[in-house]
Amino acid sequence: MLNGPNLNLLGTREPDVYGRATLSDIEALCRDAAAGLDVDIVFEQTNHEGVLVDLIQRAGREASAIVINPAAYTHTSIALLDALKGVDVPAVEVHLSQPAAREPFRAASYAALAAAGSIAGFGAMGYALAVEAAARLARARLA
Ligand code: DQA
Repeated sequence: MLNGPNLNLLGTREPDVYGRATLSDIEALCRDAAAGLDVDIVFEQTNHEGVLVDLIQRAGREASAIVINPAAYTHTSIALLDALKGVDVPAVEVHLSQPAAREPFRAASYAALAAAGSIAGFGAMGYALAVEAAARLARARLA
């Protein structure tokens, strides 16, 4: 579970857009979802693009699937797109808000070009849905 810039501020950051759940709340939600699906998760957040690239590469070596909320880098980062394309594990893109229904610059997603699918607009619940999607994708590849 990889989280990009400013998501450490969830809870107080634009709560009308992102809700009141903190990133710790979301991590707990994801751990519950993962436990129910009998999968292990590693939960990370960074404000730095290059660190996200490193984390994607590490997931490519150590994980069966990636869930990523690239936050603002969704709309700007070819480096993240290339990293996601460069690893042989499926990725699920998740957003709390529905970027396509916001400012026009949020409509484009580089991450979507590499993701198996995207979940957006469901708030914190979207993370639980993304964990389930990632687990299903990972298991389908092992079947
Ligand atoms: C976000 C949407 C992005 O446009 C924004 O830059 C974020 C959060 C979301 O989860 O809704 O930081 O990824």
